[in-house]
Amino acid sequence: MQATRFLKKFVTSTNTRSLASGTRKVTLIPGDGIGPEIAAAVQKIFATANVPIEWESVDVTPVRNPDGRFGIPQAAIDSVNRNQIGLKSPLMTPIGKGHRSLNLQLRKEFNLYANVRPCRSLEGYKTLYDDVDVVTIRENTEGEYSGIEHEIVDGVVQSIKLITEEASKRVAEFAFQYAKDNQRSKVTVVHKANIMRMSDGLFLRCCRETADKYPEIKFEEKYLDTVCLNMVQDPRQYDVLVMPNLYGDILSDMCAGLVGGLGLTPSGNIGLNGALFEAVHGTAPDIAGKDLANPTALLLSAVMMLRYMDLNQHADKIQQACFATIKEAKYLTGDLGGKAKCSEFTNSICEKLN
Ligand code: IPM
Ligand code: MG
Repeated sequence: MQATRFLKKFVTSTNTRSLASGTRKVTLIPGDGIGPEIAAAVQKIFATANVPIEWESVDVTPVRNPDGRFGIPQAAIDSVNRNQIGLKSPLMTPIGKGHRSLNLQLRKEFNLYANVRPCRSLEGYKTLYDDVDVVTIRENTEGEYSGIEHEIVDGVVQSIKLITEEASKRVAEFAFQYAKDNQRSKVTVVHKANIMRMSDGLFLRCCRETADKYPEIKFEEKYLDTVCLNMVQDPRQYDVLVMPNLYGDILSDMCAGLVGGLGLTPSGNIGLNGALFEAVHGTAPDIAGKDLANPTALLLSAVMMLRYMDLNQHADKIQQACFATIKEAKYLTGDLGGKAKCSEFTNSICEKLN
């Protein structure tokens, strides 16, 4: 299936809710901790830039279903299904107990099978690397995240890494089509098929078969550990990378680290019937409610969302204003080495938009 082509069609079709005024409705999940503050910052910037979208805020605090398990409230599910596009702030995940990560439940519920994380060096924000420009594309629905775990006997547990041809093919297709649509020249499949010969072997085979259909895109196969080694030695050798779920989780954090951390990197979860863009950093409860958070990751995720909706001019304008504020370094938040409040950083972006 031609995933991204299908998505292009979908965003320009009547599937997304267009209001009479030409504005489109977007679901907003303000989230926990610093979530609501950074969501408000994005809303303010979007209003200043006159972006033609209307936000529909939903609460995703888990509710107990008839089967006794906790899950996403129906109203939130309905909102995403109606609007087919959403922006999400961080949500708290309990560790090893309570309800399953809501982040994962959302990805599963809407079958958001490709997780796209572009990592690009920011001009004016110095890190060890100046010219990082990689995109990780992570299989987002199965693999080590399938959640199938059980105790065999006391003291012995088993966790199943589920890899299917269907999910591997569709994410491989997405990666190559993404490379083509975004003028990228190479796709690297990241795997450990030398060890997990059947599961990663299947993933690898699906990528090879898809590569054959895209002769204009260079294709390369690399072991996960080799990619980690090479990435920190010289990130310029990589372009688009595609991989199973857990490898993508880890490698995308590593790539984010090369350009300044999770506070600066956007993320999009793409499915056939919708997309959810999110900041992947945590809820930072220690600074919540203090106007200290950096809204950049959520803002750049929202910019990715605008591109997905074909609102490219708005996307460019907001991105430039954000980068200019960071480069100017007058109003940087604490995580970027500054002393500014979230609201000062936000206002500085708004001024550049006016
Ligand atoms: C991410 C996060 C999530 C994941 C957590 C919050 C469940 O680390 O989006 O990368 O593991 O996928
Ligand atoms: Mg992660």
